[in-house]
Amino acid sequence: MTDVTVIGTGVIGSAVARACARSGLEVSVWNRTRERSDALVEEGIRSHPTAAGAVAASPIVLMCLLNYDITHRVIGEASPDLSGRLVVQNASGTPENVLPLRERVEAGNGVYMEAAILNYPDAIGTEDCFTVYGGAAEDFERLKGVRSALGGRQAYLGADPTYVKAYHVVSSAFYYAFINGFLECSAIAEAMGVPLADFAESVPLYDPGFQNTIEVGLDLIKRGDYTYEQAPLTSHLDVLDNLTGIAEQAGIDRSYLGVMRERVREAMDRGYRREHIAVLTTWFRDRRESSAGRMPVGGR
Ligand SMILES: NC(=O)c1ccc[n+]([C@@H]2O[C@H](COP(=O)([O-])OP(=O)(O)OC[C@H]3O[C@@H](n4cnc5c(N)ncnc54)[C@H](OP(=O)(O)O)[C@@H]3O)[C@@H](O)[C@H]2O)c1
Repeated sequence: MTDVTVIGTGVIGSAVARACARSGLEVSVWNRTRERSDALVEEGIRSHPTAAGAVAASPIVLMCLLNYDITHRVIGEASPDLSGRLVVQNASGTPENVLPLRERVEAGNGVYMEAAILNYPDAIGTEDCFTVYGGAAEDFERLKGVRSALGGRQAYLGADPTYVKAYHVVSSAFYYAFINGFLECSAIAEAMGVPLADFAESVPLYDPGFQNTIEVGLDLIKRGDYTYEQAPLTSHLDVLDNLTGIAEQAGIDRSYLGVMRERVREAMDRGYRREHIAVLTTWFRDRRESSAGRMPVGGR
């Protein structure tokens, strides 16, 4: 027997397996493309020819495949005996994906836990790793060795496994907003002859401002009163007009800057002037409340 099995040794699964092995755990792995799992053997990790064999090898099974469909398929094809196994799903997905997979695991007499890794693979095993978990508290405890191998911050988000995926969806949406900002910013920098490295040096200086935007914005959203003199809507429109033109010149199609400008303009058409830009969130809420398709997850 080994301590932990990793199913799927892509970039995330390999980093997880390596971190576990480096922390002294005995690790088994399986991967569809055998070369990828065999590459881990020189680190003392056991590569199994079948998923069923790898699952049988350990009481804790970490699923690190690309998505839920593939996870279902791999479990279905291998039909491993899950008795006594704690199966932890790490793949990205949506809250609706969670319960069908839990049912499948429980039908095989396994115990299910949902997880998400909120960083790049190279942070796994370092203090920069951030993982979240949902399921029974005693199972979170059972994962202690694995969690300490992954390192960094590990948050237990409660007994409801679907909440973990809701949380992950929110953090992924924020991540892609950041990525999109970076992509458009690099095109604008190139077009304007500003070395991106010069801009990058200034980014840490903005950090308190980002934090402030979130703190102030959350407070205003919570209070439902968006009056805020420091950066009223009227001050955003000119800036966004300029930036939208520059984005076009930089060859950026469908820029988020144009979308932001239109949103601000629409808010001003409705009579808003001195409010914080967070007032735009009320549009989304209004549309959500008037649409038939409500979100299935209520949150914590
Ligand atoms: N990379 C990141 O920065 C990051 C960060 C957080 C979370 N995640 C999440 O982690 C999960 C794994 O992503 P990754 O980045 O490790 O991707 P990856 O390197 O592409 O690995 C994908 C894994 O899924 C397997 N797979 C794909 N299609 C398959 C199929 N039809 N049958 C069986 N196995 C199949 C791959 O096996 P083969 O080797 O045989 O293709 C591999 O083990 C994803 O849900 C991703 O969103 C990734």
